[in-house]
Formats: sequence, C-alpha cells, structure tokens
Amino acid sequence: MRVIFNTLTLLLFLYSINGEITNCRYYPRYHAAPPYGWMNDPNGLTFFKNNYHLFYQFNPDSALVPGTAHWGHMKSTNLVHWQHLPIAMYPNNTYDRSGVFSGSALIEDGKMYLYYTAHINHPGETPDHEESQALAISEDGVNVVKYENNPIILGAGRQPDIRDPKIWKHGDTYYLVLGNKFIKNDTELGRVLLYSSKDKYNWEEDSIVAASDGPLGYMWECPDFFQIGGYFVLLFSPQGVKPEGDKFLNLYQCGYIVGSFDYVTRKFVPKTEFRELDHGHDFYATQSILDNKKRRLVLAWNDMWETNYAEQNDGFTGQMTLPRILTLTKDLRLLQRPVPEIREARDNVICTGRASGGTSVTLADKAGEVNIRASPSSDLELSIEGKNRSVLIYYDATNGQISLDRGGDDGLRRTEWKPKYILKMTIFIDASSVEVFCGDGEVTMSSRFFIDGPLSVRLGDNCEVEQFRVINLKRTIPVDCSDE
Ligand code: FRU
Repeated sequence: MRVIFNTLTLLLFLYSINGEITNCRYYPRYHAAPPYGWMNDPNGLTFFKNNYHLFYQFNPDSALVPGTAHWGHMKSTNLVHWQHLPIAMYPNNTYDRSGVFSGSALIEDGKMYLYYTAHINHPGETPDHEESQALAISEDGVNVVKYENNPIILGAGRQPDIRDPKIWKHGDTYYLVLGNKFIKNDTELGRVLLYSSKDKYNWEEDSIVAASDGPLGYMWECPDFFQIGGYFVLLFSPQGVKPEGDKFLNLYQCGYIVGSFDYVTRKFVPKTEFRELDHGHDFYATQSILDNKKRRLVLAWNDMWETNYAEQNDGFTGQMTLPRILTLTKDLRLLQRPVPEIREARDNVICTGRASGGTSVTLADKAGEVNIRASPSSDLELSIEGKNRSVLIYYDATNGQISLDRGGDDGLRRTEWKPKYILKMTIFIDASSVEVFCGDGEVTMSSRFFIDGPLSVRLGDNCEVEQFRVINLKRTIPVDCSDE
C-alpha cells in the first residue's frame, strides 16, 4: 500500500514539475508569464547584479486554481527578454505552510532581502486563517534562504488579513507598508499600516497611512508607497469598492491617492481622491520600484480574480502587464508610459503612413505594436479581429471618451479622455492581451481577450488617420509549444 502511495506521490510530483503549455494560441510572446501553472501578483521586483528580477505568486501544480502559493522567479536584462528561473520559495515551513504570499525586495550589501507574507489556513475555525510577515535572503539572486527566526512581524491583535509587505529605505531607517482589514462598528474596512525598523529584522508599527471609511472597501491588498515629483503616492488594490457609472467595474480595483508625507510625524495627508490607475478589465496587485536608472517602474497582474479565462485549459493562467514608467502631472495624476526597452521586441514594420477606413493588417504571430496619430476632433475606431470575435477600441470625440469593448457580458470599459491638439495612441497586442496607452499615458486600458486564428488590426470604416503604423513584435519569452 505504502509503495503504491509513494509511487503515486512521485508521479504527481513529476507531473507537476513537468507541467507544460499544451497550446500557444493565448500564450504571450513578449509579456512575462509563468512557464506553466498559475501566476498571480508580481512580487519582489528589483534590479540585482545587472538583471531585473521578477518574482510572482505561482502554483506549479495547476493552472486552474491559485493553490498553495509559491514564489516563481524570472529575470531579464532589459525588461523584455525574460528567462525563467527555478522556484524561489516553497510553502514548506510551519509558519508559511498554506502559502508564501506577496511581498517585495530590498537590495543591500550585495544581497537580496525578500519580505513576504506567511499564510496559514485553519479550516473550520474562526478566523479560518492567519498571516505574519517573513524574510528570506538571496546572495546569488537564484537561491533563496528563509531567515531562521521567521516570522519577523506577527499579526498580533490584528484581523487575520495583514499582508503584502512593500519595503524601502529612507535615510538610516527601513520602512514597510502592509495591507490590512480592520473592524469598525461591525463593518470590515481596509487600510494600510506603516512599520519601521533600524536593522531590517525588528519592526515597529508607526502609523495608519490611510483607511477606508466604507466606500473604499473592506480589504486593501498589495499596498505600495513611494515619493514621486515632490509628493507621495499610495497605490493599492482595494476589495469591495462599488461600481459608480463607468468607474470601479472590475471585481477588485487598483488605484492611487496622491498626498504629502512627513517622515517625522509619519503622517500621510491625502490631496486627491482615489483614482483607478488603469481602465481595462485586467489590472491588479501592482508593484513598483525605483530602478537603476532612477525610473519609477510599475507593473501589474494582467488578469483578475475569478475570471476562469480560456488559457487555463492550455496549461497556464496569468501574465504581467508591460513594465511602465510612472510620472506625476501638476494636477497630481499618474502618467504611464511603456518602457522604451520594448522596442527591442520589434520586428518588421507592416505598414506606416496615412490610412483610411477599412485598412486592415494581419500580425505575423498575434503580437504587434500599433501607433496612431489623428485629429482629436473626429471619432476613431480600431478593432482587433480574429476568427471568432473582436475587440473594439473606440474614441468618441463628441463626449471626450475612450472605450474598449471585448464583447460578451461586461465587455465594455470606458473613461474620459480629452486629447488637445493631437490624438496619439499606442496599442500593444500580445496573443490574448491588449494594452492601450493614450496620449502621454494619461489613460491606459489593459484587458485580456481570447480570440482564435491570426489577429488583424482594422481601422473603422469612416476613420481617417495621419499615421497608422503597425509593427510585428517578436517572441521574447521562451516557450516550447505551437498554436493549434
Ligand atoms: C492579491 C493577493 C494578495 C496575496 C496574494 C495571494 O491578489 O490576494 O493580497 O498576498 O494575492 O496569492
């Protein structure tokens, strides 16, 4: 009996490490994605020993469920060509046995310090889970060793939901923010807590950075807090925000509040309301870093909880958005531009120059970049078309709105966009995703779609544009499979 059990366990293990992508039709060509299995949040994004490192929430055992989170790992010299590395962290300690949840990285003394949430489930009990914060260290950027005195921050006295440490250093002090749920007048509310430390190991709670008063939801996940353009941005992913017209239509949101922060009082004073960072269907759990070029980069999980997208049947779930450069405008809005390194994925230019309605070009491998320049006083319609359906991107000049409609239930996303002198748009298409960058990045829309057959890009019938440039993009993520 025991032999049979052991053989079964071994077979299951071998199956899980040999997980594979069975069909490439939806697998990204140039967006970071798991080698197989399930991916959610980006974790520990950092630049270390000449490489960008991207860790992520990973279930190696199945693409159908998040399972027990591991930290998957990949690296890149240019944020475009990605190489998969061995799994960085397993949920194999008593304190993190139900999941090594999200976290972030700090580089110091030639070492990578990885802060993460150690998650434990207690089925049938109340509360049914607990979370603490833990540390792991890597000296070579591949092998990660968990700290022997973990966990380093206990959730003592808190609600069980306290997670996703985002660390940084300022002066001689280390800081981290945590997402947390608290209860006020019997209502669950989300908030972000600030901690500080003088040695990276011993932490004290300092202040509440911001908290929901109801409309901003019952739990705030993946907080990030950083200085930009003389202000501070609190970027987070709240759960439980109710739809308001065209706003907050996704299951969970991702957005930011801009304000000022004083390191002496440790108080954050908001100067804006909460604004969504992206207006598409699939943008969650962002992580940002200040990279070696002093750019504030951000990327997100280009997916959403509870979507069950068709890619699951091909052996993988999830991908990241393109890394974007964040800047802050005078009226305290974040602009997002794709990193210029993405040009390294360019192949041939399929078409360029003026174009009129009905112009249609087919991408060589379902992956391309589209640059448009047109007059902001006329409507513009562009569709991404394949065998079974299409995605429509539509600029409504009269109402000053941009929309993306991927069809089906809940297909439409729309927001205000009023380009002034010229309408500029850059659109990245990658097998099962589209990212639209409007103007100088004042609006972005990131959504997944599942269209079979070759993909074409087509200008709407009555449109006239000054520039319609379509470029094929190459594969920059290795994967061993073909489209079927
Ligand atoms: C956000 C999140 C995090 C958590 C992780 C678990 O998507 O729920 O709060 O750490 O995913 O995989």
